[in-house]
Amino acid sequence: MKKIIKKVAEFLISIALKPCAIMWFWYLRWFRHNRMLSALNNKEIGSPSVIYLPFAYLYNLLLFARRSWATNFTKYALKKYSAFLKRHYTKGGLGYFNYEQLSPEDCIKVYQGLTGRISYYLDHNPTLLEYKNGDTFLDAGCGKGQNIKALVSRYPNSSIKGFDVSEEALKIVQTALKDNNKISAEVGSVVDFKYLASYPAGAFDHLIVSHVFAFLIGPSVEETRKIRQMVIDHLVRVAAKTLLIMDGDILSGNDTPEVTLRNH
Ligand SMILES: C[S@@+](CC[C@H](N)C(=O)[O-])C[C@H]1O[C@@H](n2cnc3c(N)ncnc32)[C@H](O)[C@@H]1O
Repeated sequence: MKKIIKKVAEFLISIALKPCAIMWFWYLRWFRHNRMLSALNNKEIGSPSVIYLPFAYLYNLLLFARRSWATNFTKYALKKYSAFLKRHYTKGGLGYFNYEQLSPEDCIKVYQGLTGRISYYLDHNPTLLEYKNGDTFLDAGCGKGQNIKALVSRYPNSSIKGFDVSEEALKIVQTALKDNNKISAEVGSVVDFKYLASYPAGAFDHLIVSHVFAFLIGPSVEETRKIRQMVIDHLVRVAAKTLLIMDGDILSGNDTPEVTLRNH
């Protein structure tokens, strides 16, 4: 029944929206054509219509308002989030809030239910990643070990290490893989540059950072870029072959993971 209601609603909405889509398309077509004529400023191909001018002014005004809004919102949000996120994965924060009380059996249950974000890329783009069974891996900000789990099952001969700021999260992977001597996980932070410096250059074939950069936020855009670039520089140094960064953008609400792979 729910499915039928959804289908009917979709059908009715599509009928209602069709005239709007057509009008919007032709308006944009007309606007962009005139914008192009205005930019070309060439009498031989023609001048923009006089009606275009007020639309152009309005467009520029809206663009200016949107940019000013984005700048001010980002400024405020970064300041707030840089403080919130520090607390999110600590005691009193919501990330892993009840993990302290988990028994070893609970930890294993949590581990069994994990799916690593990396699985999608391993299954759909193995040529790009070029990981081989026996290669070594470091998962920076490994959390509960979601990606470690995906790697262990595909590359059983590989040594894999993870680190994370949260002891509670690490407890899951440490408990579940305690009998596997190829796997280790310890407390460490990607913004603790002394800690990162303790890894020799090229210490691991592949480095993975999955949904950690979204949590590296400074009080301004410039500070955020600076912190993230410093982390990337350190990680590139430690990676002998590849650094894979998977992330989304929490501020814009865009959860689609972006993937950056650096082969070197
Ligand atoms: C969304 S979870 C992602 C966990 C895992 N990498 C995954 O892809 O499923 C974010 C993780 O980043 C960790 N984290 C946050 N800040 C960190 C930092 N400065 N250094 C290392 N890990 C950090 C958190 O403790 C948390 O486990």
